[in-house]
Amino acid sequence: MKKFESIRQAQKVASKSIRNGTFRWLEAGAEDNFTTELNIEFLNSVKFIPKILSKNKDLQIKKKFLGNFISSPLILCPMGHQTQFSKLGEIETCGGIQNIDTVGFFSTQGRQSLSNIRKKNKNAKLVWQIFLFGDKNWILSQIKNAQKNNCMALSICLDAPLRSHRYMDREIDYDARKFGKRTQPEPPDVSKALDYDWEIIRWIKKKTNLPIILKGIINEDDAFLAKKYGSDMLWVSNHGGRMVNSGISSGEALIKIKKKLKNSIPIIVDGGVRRGSDIAKYLSLGADYVGIGRPAIYGLIIDGKKGVKKIFSILNNELKTFMINSGCKNYKDLNTKRLIIPKI
Ligand SMILES: Cc1cc2nc3c(=O)[nH]c(=O)nc-3n(C[C@H](O)[C@H](O)[C@H](O)COP(=O)(O)O)c2cc1C
Repeated sequence: MKKFESIRQAQKVASKSIRNGTFRWLEAGAEDNFTTELNIEFLNSVKFIPKILSKNKDLQIKKKFLGNFISSPLILCPMGHQTQFSKLGEIETCGGIQNIDTVGFFSTQGRQSLSNIRKKNKNAKLVWQIFLFGDKNWILSQIKNAQKNNCMALSICLDAPLRSHRYMDREIDYDARKFGKRTQPEPPDVSKALDYDWEIIRWIKKKTNLPIILKGIINEDDAFLAKKYGSDMLWVSNHGGRMVNSGISSGEALIKIKKKLKNSIPIIVDGGVRRGSDIAKYLSLGADYVGIGRPAIYGLIIDGKKGVKKIFSILNNELKTFMINSGCKNYKDLNTKRLIIPKI
């Protein structure tokens, strides 16, 4: 196993450990990656003002997620097609998040079935994510699947109704579906996603007692509607810039959504997190939890579940160090008063 001690090093090592097309597919964003890059650029543009002499020896980074303590606010984003990156794909990734003790989201676009992921990871804190790629009977079967496999919540992916154009894939004619095994059947009818509106959320809410987490919210009006239709948590995300090359970063969206909804609903945010300070910045902007996508897959490529765990350990450690060195006693000290935010 090749070593890595930072996320940027993991990215380099992973890129050399796997077929070029597969790595490009992981890194790709919609069209020419403009929005993917903006997620990172926005985080870099936010400044954090440190304080000194804060008597913060007892700083804890544990956090509660739906009633359960997890190791930190850092959680695993849902990502499809993971057996391209390692033979067991999602099963290994889940092993990593089980061992670090955080929440992992897995989706109907994944290659391993939820029951297979659960069988090998009995104690994992799992959330099942449904793409609306089937009729109501199929959606209901997925809700039952989540309940049967002891998931903490249900997530709905709302920002990916159609495959987007990604120049990094198109220019080399790479098709992710050709690589890696699957134990989970493909969703029955991708085109169904275009038939649904907000009423489907009301319908899903009626079919389960599990908390619902709507993912892919960027527009503040959608955030308002998501809450109105019963989302228990909001996931502010532009899918790592993979779907719409819109030019609005997750961080900018988070600022607007927080202004609109204040503290009325817990918020997850993702996009561009590559360092502990990035997590601290998102938390300071008002997020309750922060997701990582691609970095977890770098770990998976390099060393399976151990690699995934290591990615989380590095970031958790960096978060804690950042908080201590910048004079935070607890998460309350991560707030907008400590930030200089560029005008949006
Ligand atoms: C390979 C890959 C597959 C993804 N599959 C899904 C998915 O199945 N469902 C979903 O909601 N988001 C999916 N996403 C988006 C991630 O959940 C997340 O929003 C994004 O990766 C965060 O940005 P980051 O990669 O910069 O951390 C995927 C992202 C990647 C890189």
